[in-house]
Amino acid sequence: MSNNDTQIIDAAVPDAPAHQPEPQKIYLRDYEAPKYTVESVALDIRLFEEDATVEGRLQISRDAAGDVLLHAEDMEIEALYIDDTRVDDTAYTHSEGRLMLHDAPATFALRTEVRICPQTNTMLEGLYKAGTGDETMFVTQCEPEGFRRITPYPDRPDVLSTFTTRLEADKRYPTLLANGNLIEAGEVADAPERHYAIWHDPTHKPSYLFACVVANLDVLSDHYTTSDGRKVLLEVYAKAADIDKCHVGMQALKDAMAWDEDNYGCIYDLDRYMIVAVSQFNMGAMENKGLNIFNTACVLSSPETTTDARSFNVKAVIAHEYFHNWTGNRITCRDWFQLCLKEGFTVFRDQSFSADQQSAAVQRIDDVATLRAYQFNEDAGPLAHPVRPDSFVEINNFYTTTVYEKGAEIVRMLANMLGKEKFRQGTDEYFRRYDGQAVTVEDFLSALSVADERVLSFIDWYRQPGTPVVSGHQNYDAETQTLEITLTQKTRHVAGFDAPKALPIPVATAVFDKESGQIVAEEMLLLDKETQTYRFDNITGAPVVSLLRDFSAPVQLNFDYQDADLAFLLTHETNGFNRWQVTQILVNRILLQNHEPAIYLEALAKTLPNLAKDDAMLAARLLDIPSAQELASAISTDYDPDAVKAKRDGLYQQVAVHLADMWQPLYESLPITEYDDSAEARGVRALRNVVLDMALTAGVDNAADWAVQQYESAACMTERSGALKALVNHQVAGYETQLKNFYERFKADDLVIDLWFSAQAASEQVRVADIEALIAHTDFDWNTPNRVRSVISAFTTQPAVLWTPEGLALYTQAVAKLDDSNPVIASRLVQVLARWYTLVPSKREVAHRYLQALKEKVQSKHVRESLDSVLGA
Ligand code: PHE
Ligand code: ZN
Repeated sequence: MSNNDTQIIDAAVPDAPAHQPEPQKIYLRDYEAPKYTVESVALDIRLFEEDATVEGRLQISRDAAGDVLLHAEDMEIEALYIDDTRVDDTAYTHSEGRLMLHDAPATFALRTEVRICPQTNTMLEGLYKAGTGDETMFVTQCEPEGFRRITPYPDRPDVLSTFTTRLEADKRYPTLLANGNLIEAGEVADAPERHYAIWHDPTHKPSYLFACVVANLDVLSDHYTTSDGRKVLLEVYAKAADIDKCHVGMQALKDAMAWDEDNYGCIYDLDRYMIVAVSQFNMGAMENKGLNIFNTACVLSSPETTTDARSFNVKAVIAHEYFHNWTGNRITCRDWFQLCLKEGFTVFRDQSFSADQQSAAVQRIDDVATLRAYQFNEDAGPLAHPVRPDSFVEINNFYTTTVYEKGAEIVRMLANMLGKEKFRQGTDEYFRRYDGQAVTVEDFLSALSVADERVLSFIDWYRQPGTPVVSGHQNYDAETQTLEITLTQKTRHVAGFDAPKALPIPVATAVFDKESGQIVAEEMLLLDKETQTYRFDNITGAPVVSLLRDFSAPVQLNFDYQDADLAFLLTHETNGFNRWQVTQILVNRILLQNHEPAIYLEALAKTLPNLAKDDAMLAARLLDIPSAQELASAISTDYDPDAVKAKRDGLYQQVAVHLADMWQPLYESLPITEYDDSAEARGVRALRNVVLDMALTAGVDNAADWAVQQYESAACMTERSGALKALVNHQVAGYETQLKNFYERFKADDLVIDLWFSAQAASEQVRVADIEALIAHTDFDWNTPNRVRSVISAFTTQPAVLWTPEGLALYTQAVAKLDDSNPVIASRLVQVLARWYTLVPSKREVAHRYLQALKEKVQSKHVRESLDSVLGA
């Protein structure tokens, strides 16, 4: 199918079902330790015009002779040698990605010679080609199971070894990089157009942390001196035109290195740390030992081309990958079921780092908003799984928001419960005990429990799927001056799992005096039974309680607050996160339970003017109304996307109109000034964009002129794209002019053109025909995940369009198309449709038909596993 082929799948006449073997499920309980060790690995990778050869030398040792099983996918085996003697093809079997050596000696040197084809590898796993023409480069992605597509190997995270890598290629590719230290480089004898480099990584690592790069890149270099006095060379590699955009990332790297020393006592261990920017990458970035590979979107940043939100994300991802050096690389996962061991902890660490770079309340708001919008949704549907899953077909399907973000929330609960000092005592013990090993979640808890035994009871959070719902009420007795708070927890029973248990849930609580607005009691309540009542004495006046401050646990809270108490908290809460939280509770009540909006509107009117001056970023967040997708996740039956959109738009309109007099003075108080990357300046820019959109919604005189003016005089991308989105969303007369101008101005910059695509694909006004036109655009490319996301994923922000027959046809066709070329991305797209069964009957039936039709077409085990779950198989 060509790029612009978007014909509709005829659901009524599906293709004949292909005969597919049942995908095999793997269980945590079947884990067995490896039967041999790999003492060392030496690779020789030679890249040619059409393919590549890989020679691997493994030193294998074990207790007894017998069969040896290696993984070997998508490769042609040219020769095998055992202890330097070539063996014939009766000595091994190679089928279905497995290479079995029959009856090999106990200890031996294995040499393998294979041929692979990085040029046609569109899955972006293993060694693959990215970019075209002058920008062609070859890079690897090995996590979780890509290494087996490069060379035969026991490709599992509990096999650790040292790697030496020789790379050989045409001199058109002057950049030859691999993990560790460069030990030799030179010309290839008898081939004057070719050169080579040899790298050695002295650390023991699992194969998923292997990486190499063959490219023509520029480099930005710097140094960092560790607290133990070693000078580390820092390098960020990117194509020449992008090298100016590497300074933000470089600074973030240095900040992260210092932060990890200060907060965890973790010091970098190699002499060199490299980051490489790649335009085609399935995920955000990858923590390969000493050689991180980054999606360009997660490393490049400049004021003119990158929004504040993206730039802030760049710093967070740089920190995340750097932090993996200890939490992931030095201490790694025993098996892929333990993925949250490295990801949950590392996300918690990067969130803490980010909280130190801006207002901690805003950081928490953004992290919780993400958790609620995606993780709660996942936990509420057929893809719900424990933070540590106990079975899977395709591990790539488990790089989920549950593993990452809920995993981080568990570590956060532990850190809060222990307090700063004891948590540090626990993490010190973890690093001391397990450095250099491949371990489990139990090991992690066991190390932390040296500081406090209660840690061990948190294991159930890793084992049990579903978001706990905490409901409760208060009882105040003026006579005895006692306040009682009763809390109850309930977790839905997810099919296929044990009946849910009560979990330990820390509920950070403050009691306010209604009269004075002051806090009169503050306590961390621990709810670890189904129902508990907590008593506060000496409460002399009528109280208002504030619960789950800073979102102390990843639960859904249904406390029987009066709307007026919530309005009180919006004014008096000192916890910035909870001020935002009460606006969200009020909004949800208005949208989902038909509460009157008056109290909410009044409270906003009262709060905003001052807050805008004190903390513009927080003020911008207080105007948040949950996205259509997030609202959908709270609806379990008869979900009507059009009705939800109408309600949401209606409330947005009401807010805009109610506060209409505020917009002009507020907008004028936030003039565009010279670019500055301080938290304050980012806050001003965020609020200005929100106010602009509000003003357009309210129909404020001249708001359209402000938008055009802001577009034209923008000092940075946050201002320019904010104006562009407002113009597109409101279809302000002549918006096509700015869209065209934007395209012409930035057409050489892929990441900005992604913004251009997504501003249109995610527009409030988008129609399926617009998405078809974007797909037909010459700059659309199915092989570039960022571009696919900028159109196909951006479109899912408009559920009212997605869930139409035309929307589903287009979307499922995109999945079918990607199923073959990039199953990891295709499977992620399927997961977005998980809650189809909550739709109103007419729409549900249509969605079901499209999903069924899709099932007949797809082949990859990635997509099949996701679809089976989504369809309830
Ligand atoms: N381990 C990477 C991270 O979270 C994510 C990733 C997973 C990248 C799989 C590529 C493939 O930092
Ligand atoms: Zn990670």
